[in-house]
Amino acid sequence: MELTTTTLTNGHHHQVRVSSDQLKTEVRRLARERDAVILAHNYQESDIQDVADFTGDSLNLAKQARATSAKIIVFCGVHFMAETAAMLNPAKLVLIPDLQAGCSLADMVVPHQIRQWKAAHSQGVVVCYVNTSAAVKAECDYCCTSANGINVIESIPADREILFVPDYYLGTYLKTKTKRNIEVWKGYCPAHAVILPERVDALRDAHPDAEFLMHPECGCLTKQMDLADKILSTEGMVQHVRTSPAKTFIIATETGILSRMQKDNPEKTFLPASEQAACHHMQRNTLKKVLWSLATLQHRITVDPTLARRALVPIERMMAVS
Ligand code: 13P
Repeated sequence: MELTTTTLTNGHHHQVRVSSDQLKTEVRRLARERDAVILAHNYQESDIQDVADFTGDSLNLAKQARATSAKIIVFCGVHFMAETAAMLNPAKLVLIPDLQAGCSLADMVVPHQIRQWKAAHSQGVVVCYVNTSAAVKAECDYCCTSANGINVIESIPADREILFVPDYYLGTYLKTKTKRNIEVWKGYCPAHAVILPERVDALRDAHPDAEFLMHPECGCLTKQMDLADKILSTEGMVQHVRTSPAKTFIIATETGILSRMQKDNPEKTFLPASEQAACHHMQRNTLKKVLWSLATLQHRITVDPTLARRALVPIERMMAVS
């Protein structure tokens, strides 16, 4: 693939053509020179995954961010993930290639709403999905990802009333699985919301031997929970398709994950449950922006230390439960 980039010579801007391979070589060279580690979420475009030191789900990326000895973390994901990395490793320079790469789901709950609920439920505890801002995490008691949600809920004393924010579908899944007293917030991920049960049913009819894998953020989850062969985090899906004897898979999550699955398993077939299930925030990061980020050391993600100290309480509980 060819990309155009602009250079400045003698005061004039020139458009030059560079191949994505040239860009990748330059990204890797600069990452070495800067002592930077590149972390990429499973939804990132395959060019970014190609240059990443580590690709994974939210939980594994947080673990990598904490463990790295590199001076710089280039976080190719969305803002809350980079923010979590910055809190877990405050001595590092944490960069995100596009500052607008946010999370519509994370924006569906704000700190004062948590404070309000707590004021009305003095014995209640609040569990937030990692897809929340640091300011929301600072008001919460526990944090979890889709990979460890059940274990986090089960680590909470059984008599406690729980509020789960902000994802309705993950919250409903956790409530069903753990049979705990959980009030579930009504937030949702717009990318997962376009995955419709009718379309999943049609695909399953057309491919009766296919395995149906679903992310717990899926809008169709409440109708399809019993029908899914597996409900998994993004990394859970990536690992499962490697070892499963099935040849065809229906994948109900953001479509960016399919390129990694296809690359890892060229002999298998991967069908998106919806071609429209794309996260426009994730797609804001591009290979060119990763290079720009390394070259300019922007955009730096920082969290106020007082806020971070509070937000780290639920985050540490999340990290302790795998
Ligand atoms: P995972 O933790 O499964 O990678 O999911 C993160 C996410 O934001 C899904 O939309």
